[in-house]
Amino acid sequence: MANSITLFMLWLSVISTVHHVKLIAHGSTGGESTRFYDFKVQTKRVTKLCNSKDIVTINGMFPGPVVYAQEDDRIIVKVTNKTPFNVTIHWHGVRQRLSCWYDGASTITQCPIQSGQSFTYNFSVVQQKGTFFWHAHVSWLRGTVYGAMIVYPKTGVPYPFKFPYQEHIIILGEYWMKDLQKIEYDTLASGGPPPIADAYTINGHPGPNYNCSTNDFHQVDVIPGKTYLLRLINAGLNTENFFAIADHKLTIVEADAEYTKPFTTDTVMIGPGQTLNVLVSADKPVGKYSMAAAPYKSGRFVLYQNVSAIAFFNYIGAPSNSLYTPAKLPKLDDKLVVKTVMDGLRSLNQVNVFREIDENLFITIGLNVQKCHSKTPKQNCQAQDGVLAASMNNISFVNPNISILEAYYKKIKGIYTEDFPDMPPKFYDFVNGAPNNITYDTQSLNGTKTKVLKYGSKVQLILQDTGIVNPENHPMHFHGHSFYVVGYGTGNYNPLIAQFNLVDPPYMNTIGVPVGGWAAIRFVADNPGVWYMHCHIDIHKSWGLGVVFIVHNGKGELESLPHPPPDLPQC
Ligand code: C2O
Repeated sequence: MANSITLFMLWLSVISTVHHVKLIAHGSTGGESTRFYDFKVQTKRVTKLCNSKDIVTINGMFPGPVVYAQEDDRIIVKVTNKTPFNVTIHWHGVRQRLSCWYDGASTITQCPIQSGQSFTYNFSVVQQKGTFFWHAHVSWLRGTVYGAMIVYPKTGVPYPFKFPYQEHIIILGEYWMKDLQKIEYDTLASGGPPPIADAYTINGHPGPNYNCSTNDFHQVDVIPGKTYLLRLINAGLNTENFFAIADHKLTIVEADAEYTKPFTTDTVMIGPGQTLNVLVSADKPVGKYSMAAAPYKSGRFVLYQNVSAIAFFNYIGAPSNSLYTPAKLPKLDDKLVVKTVMDGLRSLNQVNVFREIDENLFITIGLNVQKCHSKTPKQNCQAQDGVLAASMNNISFVNPNISILEAYYKKIKGIYTEDFPDMPPKFYDFVNGAPNNITYDTQSLNGTKTKVLKYGSKVQLILQDTGIVNPENHPMHFHGHSFYVVGYGTGNYNPLIAQFNLVDPPYMNTIGVPVGGWAAIRFVADNPGVWYMHCHIDIHKSWGLGVVFIVHNGKGELESLPHPPPDLPQC
């Protein structure tokens, strides 16, 4: 015990001395190491935007501590919950090969860690490297409980691009002055849309455009002539963001922790749940340049915070006053910029996407308005006299009382069903002809329905946005797998004219399905367990925009889900 504690302290000191810059491979010669972290979930009083409140954090940090590792390492994180709230931590983008129990999706793979309890996450980053993040995966706690996770290549393995002089983490977020759990509760109770964020943040700081924030900004100091790697992460709750640096180009080299062909652009769009690595050369006149995050307003009727978050890309030697060159951002609804970036995302190397398909799924995604069943409609049915919901194939996902994984593993009946449909209840003009009032029967059904996949199934999934309430870009995230984005387009998916890229499609875990459009993804279901697919816009997830895939065990060695860990939290 004493030994493991000393070891642990040693690790902590290694961790805390590694600042934003880079990992010194510690005691590792390219073999697998184990990285230990201690996460205390605790509240902390913070003052932002002229307002003080208690937020939930990890170890009192906002954003939370960075988890560092190398490809194939084991990561062990003891999470102790010192708050009154239920908590889980999800390791976003980690494929959790044979370790579904540690995926951290509340009521999907585990019951939450209750107040005073702890749970030790233990998984390997098998054949994965790049920029990831971790976040709470229960109610809206993710709003403040998030941090970066950086997995380096094995020792001696270079990046497929010129080694940058330094690297920096840039995490986008959204900040509310009110309590997040209360906002979620009140929003669902109202039947209407959520309030807009009070601010966007960059590494937790809103920047000078907001009240009381003149000094609440993040700054990256750069040396003229050097090249920097920025690890962009969108940890925001409900908004997709444009990001740009004044007068500087961004060269994308990695998306969702997979290398891409270098693609240079002025602006990127990054949705909640997405990560992008970009190279930036400090090759402009010495000065102070803003890095800005603004909303991508894809939904016409959705209200957004319109003030941009600002951080600084500051050349060493620039005069130290408050003058800076502002970043130019696209129009709030500029779909062309979004398409240009998507078109630019190509796998670095040629890939071999399967051509024979075992499971061909067509799933509509979007919002719905359900009938009002409340005796107090003024308070509880604020959406066209109905209640806002969201669905996949018209099923609004309902979280069960115990985890689906546990129910599946222990064969407990009555927790979920296995009848999630392979297509929507009816086909019509999803995008343009969609009725947007509740007298039409496009209301969603509530249910905890799953789609079962045989081990090794080759799956094609078309995700089709609907305009039932409002077409919108949905960042669809899949746990436990990455998928090839083989096609996308606007309007209704038409197999006769859809163009697919089976040569070098990007390999992602979150795909922004174009507003009023579709995306086609392919993956092999080779990771046994229970895996959530959902919109990473939290309010959409709360409204039911999700589905669960159950992947059966295979017959071979290392094709079965191991037993649950002994400390798996109880509900
Ligand atoms: Cu980052 Cu289920 O999500």
